[in-house]
Amino acid sequence: MSKNWNFKGIIIKTPAQIEGIRKACALNAAVLDMIGEYVKAGVSTEELDYIANNFVIKNGGKSACIDYRGNNTWGAGGYSKFACISLNDTICHGIPSKNAFLKDGDILNFDASTILDGYIGDSSRMYTVGKIPEKSQKLIDVTKTCLDIGIAEVKPGARFGNIGYAINSYADPLGYSVVRDYTGHGVGIFFHEEPAVYHRAPWGSGATMAPGMIFTIEPMINIGGYKTRLDPSDGWTVRTSDGSLSAQFEHTILVTDTGYEILTATEKFV
Ligand code: MF3
Ligand code: CO
Repeated sequence: MSKNWNFKGIIIKTPAQIEGIRKACALNAAVLDMIGEYVKAGVSTEELDYIANNFVIKNGGKSACIDYRGNNTWGAGGYSKFACISLNDTICHGIPSKNAFLKDGDILNFDASTILDGYIGDSSRMYTVGKIPEKSQKLIDVTKTCLDIGIAEVKPGARFGNIGYAINSYADPLGYSVVRDYTGHGVGIFFHEEPAVYHRAPWGSGATMAPGMIFTIEPMINIGGYKTRLDPSDGWTVRTSDGSLSAQFEHTILVTDTGYEILTATEKFV
């Protein structure tokens, strides 16, 4: 309380808000659990989206993405689907489509964002279709480790930049690149709150973490270069500019008095 925390626009959630966000996050994690068994060759990404949307509605929630407009740099129109489903060289914000069929060897990120009783949870995971090449599995493993390494930096008094420093220091020497154009973000009351959580940043940079802050960490890691290309035809889909494979994992994290709590961890849904 006597500490001079430097958290300007960052919302410190009340215990009641934390409880609500915890529930939204638990439902969001349950979506990612249940969708796995539907991921197989021949299924369209729109079918996956439909199944997930129905699951959330059945459990009293709704999508945070539907009608979401983002900021100026994010697409011209509102988003129309429950989730973002990003296949292979798509980094993020892939729009579920009735024409995009999964095939053997594909990797995909399913990014769900759920509103429950007005509170928001946000997380994503990688899924694989059939037998995938070893290099794809390695990318997925490295990306998951990037998320875990970033989360390990979360505690009161730490700087947000430490998350990105830790992630990049791990991924870069292995020859992977960390996407710079898209970041994690505060979440819970609004879909995208302050701060931007960089996945590549100088140690000690950025705002200071304090108990009650809630934000995502969602590293996007490419086999090739870090550069991105926004699909001009839909204003949403972000691909690697060199066509290389990309992977992502995301959790919503609460800063506690002593460290962190992963709100979108699976075991929390009851
Ligand atoms: N779920 C994404 C995130 O992690 C946001 C997608 S915006 C949308 O922040 F409108 F495309 F859904
Ligand atoms: Co997010």
